[in-house]
Amino acid sequence: MKLITLIYAILVGFITVLATPTGQQLPPSALRRSRLHQHHNRLKVAISKASADDANPPAETYNGNWAGAVLTGAGYRTVTGTITLPPLRLPAGADSNVLHAVSAWVGIDGQPACPNAILQLGVDMYLNASEPSYAAWIEWYPNHSTYLTDFAMLPGDRVTLNLTAPSLSSAAFTLVNHRTGQTDRASLADQQPLLCGFSAEWMVEDFLGSNGVPLVDFGSITFTGTKFVTDSGVTGGVADAGLQGIREKADGPVVVECGKVGGDGATCVYQGPGVADA
Ligand SMILES: *[C@@H]1O[C@H](CO)[C@@H](O)[C@H](O)[C@H]1NC(C)=O
Ligand SMILES: *[C@@H]1O[C@H](CO)[C@@H](O)[C@H](O)[C@H]1NC(C)=O
Ligand SMILES: *[C@@H]1O[C@H](CO)[C@@H](O)[C@H](O)[C@H]1NC(C)=O
Repeated sequence: MKLITLIYAILVGFITVLATPTGQQLPPSALRRSRLHQHHNRLKVAISKASADDANPPAETYNGNWAGAVLTGAGYRTVTGTITLPPLRLPAGADSNVLHAVSAWVGIDGQPACPNAILQLGVDMYLNASEPSYAAWIEWYPNHSTYLTDFAMLPGDRVTLNLTAPSLSSAAFTLVNHRTGQTDRASLADQQPLLCGFSAEWMVEDFLGSNGVPLVDFGSITFTGTKFVTDSGVTGGVADAGLQGIREKADGPVVVECGKVGGDGATCVYQGPGVADA
């Protein structure tokens, strides 16, 4: 544990040294705290079952808070993709004094096949009192997420997220902001519980189900240049991935719908207010 703490200190120092802060300020600490408090309940909220009809598998399944593209199998070790940070709007009829949010991330082992750990690299997007803010983070679930507090972003920026697990207990993260040229790297060693490598995900997350923060109108979030690499060197993108969408309630409207674009891309589109703002 002491060693892990030391590695964490080195990690934070490393990020700080590499940082070239530019652009807008970080979200207020209260916003970041809202993420730290949700780690107990970050797992996908299952609200509907996929069809068991193998001959006609559903094109898209729905759950309470995760939307995007998912590959399942074995040996997933690298997941990358590039997103363009969307402008954020208040959902129709929503109160501007209520914090709204969405997150986009790439990950390994977000599916139930690996019940213990999830490795994630993402960007949280908040709209508070009409002010948008964006914050990058890493997470080895069930441990807390850690914000990369120097990584500056503005709406419209193209950001590449690259997450690699050199082993089932370690991770390397690279983020690039293509507007500013800023590159952040971080790494984690000797993590527990171990990863499985059973899935690769490109996800858009609605916090409503995990910590009550309603979904912001993000228009759409598209992952382009998606790529995975397995431990045996197999590579590809989201072409064979399954799609997931969000219904905040099983009998409620679809809040986020996803599809594939351009061979190696997946896009998730905001459909309208869900439970909190309806
Ligand atoms: C979780 O992260 C903290 C630092 O935030 C670190 O001290 C701790 O060792 C980590 N736990 C595990 C299991 O890696
Ligand atoms: C949202 O903005 C208001 C007004 O600027 C501020 O008082 C409040 O603390 C902010 N909320 C969060 C969660 O940061
Ligand atoms: C992602 O990071 C890994 C490890 O640093 C690197 O080998 C790989 O080339 C990167 N992939 C992309 C698409 O940037």
